[in-house]
Amino acid sequence: MSDLFKKYDIPAPRYTSYPTVPYWDDAPTTDEWVQSLNNALKQPKSPWSLYIHIPFCESLCCYCACNTTISRNHERYEDPYVKNIIAEWEAYLKSVPYLTKRPLKNIHLGGGTPTFLSPDNLRKMISSILSKVNIDRNDFEGSIEVHPNYTTDEHLEMLSELGFNRISIGVQDFNLNVQKLVNRIQLPKATKKTVDSAKRLGFVSINFDLIYGLPGQGQKEMALTMDKTLELRPDRIALYSLAIVPWIKPAQRLFKDEDLPNPEEKRALYDYAKQRLLEAGYVEIGMDHFSLLDEDLAIAMNEGRLHRNFMGYTDQKTDVLLGLGVSSISATPDCFHQNQKVLSLYEAQASKGLIPTLRGHKLTKEDQLVQSQILELMTKFKISFVDANQKQAVVKRLETMIKDGLVLVNGDNLTITEIGKSFLRVICTSFDERLLRAKPDSMTFSKAI
Ligand SMILES: C[S@@+](CC[C@H](N)C(=O)[O-])C[C@H]1O[C@@H](n2cnc3c(N)ncnc32)[C@H](O)[C@@H]1O
Repeated sequence: MSDLFKKYDIPAPRYTSYPTVPYWDDAPTTDEWVQSLNNALKQPKSPWSLYIHIPFCESLCCYCACNTTISRNHERYEDPYVKNIIAEWEAYLKSVPYLTKRPLKNIHLGGGTPTFLSPDNLRKMISSILSKVNIDRNDFEGSIEVHPNYTTDEHLEMLSELGFNRISIGVQDFNLNVQKLVNRIQLPKATKKTVDSAKRLGFVSINFDLIYGLPGQGQKEMALTMDKTLELRPDRIALYSLAIVPWIKPAQRLFKDEDLPNPEEKRALYDYAKQRLLEAGYVEIGMDHFSLLDEDLAIAMNEGRLHRNFMGYTDQKTDVLLGLGVSSISATPDCFHQNQKVLSLYEAQASKGLIPTLRGHKLTKEDQLVQSQILELMTKFKISFVDANQKQAVVKRLETMIKDGLVLVNGDNLTITEIGKSFLRVICTSFDERLLRAKPDSMTFSKAI
């Protein structure tokens, strides 16, 4: 195994989208984007999903690769941001009237720390959107990412009242020594309090975000994180590989190399955690997620309905994802669209009632095919080749991986083996026609392990 880690721990995309963002090369104009949304929603009954990005955090977790604005100045940011989200939403209502007619299946609030906003401001923002849309209360998912240090019972009560039924708790690691190294002190009792409140309020699904590969994390630390996680028994767990991208996130330079596990040690942390979770009745979902056996994700996987989007694995596939807020990405079957990533630019455009387009991509027929194949690999660990030409080309690219036992080719089918699952992202690169045509000429993706 050690040799395999040396050979295949290379930069590779996480494939939360295809084409991956650095390869977007044919941006729609804002009008074309609106047209694409209207076309997708024109289909009768087509449901859609909504993502709202709230970038604010009171303090910087130095591993974090997300789009954040660090501040304690609630007065400066809260009211204007809520106003801008509402203005952006109204701009969409004017140009995409179908949004009010088609069922909204799920809404997800991510960050940053969405509960940086006060309960009143969050309520104002969510209600002004939900009051205009069509929701089937029996088939609706409302979810939010929370940091226990900044989440009150009042936040959770308000969210539950508005129909939110899932929460995702940022935990990362339960050890104080690791928490100090990443500048995120979060006492286990704070996490437990959030779990208890969510259960009391009837949230049907609780997710923990954990990370493996953090500085100071060894087998002993992972054992404690697993003990504490299993005591609280969340329904789902995302166990992310630490993505190290200091050229994008300079705060990651605060880690000392000697504090980080090497690739083999890092993967051993995942394997250890996986073993503990499987023994405790969880099932592995795709690449880095776990859920209890009777949870929707596990059911979707068993029924072949598992899906993956910008937020990770989900059982709720809709053709349309609308993203509001700074840096948010939206998607239709033939287009991606991203909002301005710099807060001041987002504010300048949204406050004028404009759709704050930064960039996007119009998918070609080839993109759509590769997208569906990479999605198959990420959710089912196997695919069927489209034709003999593709089989011949891919088998040639994967020759070494086939010899190393990571991939099996049988007739027209390709299956990723148990060992191969550790290298899923690298295997997917053999299908990534855009990456194969032009390798990035600077540091772009984190390493695969
Ligand atoms: C958008 S963040 C949500 C932050 C949340 N408010 C919290 O409590 O920190 C979603 C998750 O991404 C994961 N994440 C952030 N940076 C990461 C990195 N560099 N590598 C791997 N996972 C990361 C963390 O597990 C985090 O909880």
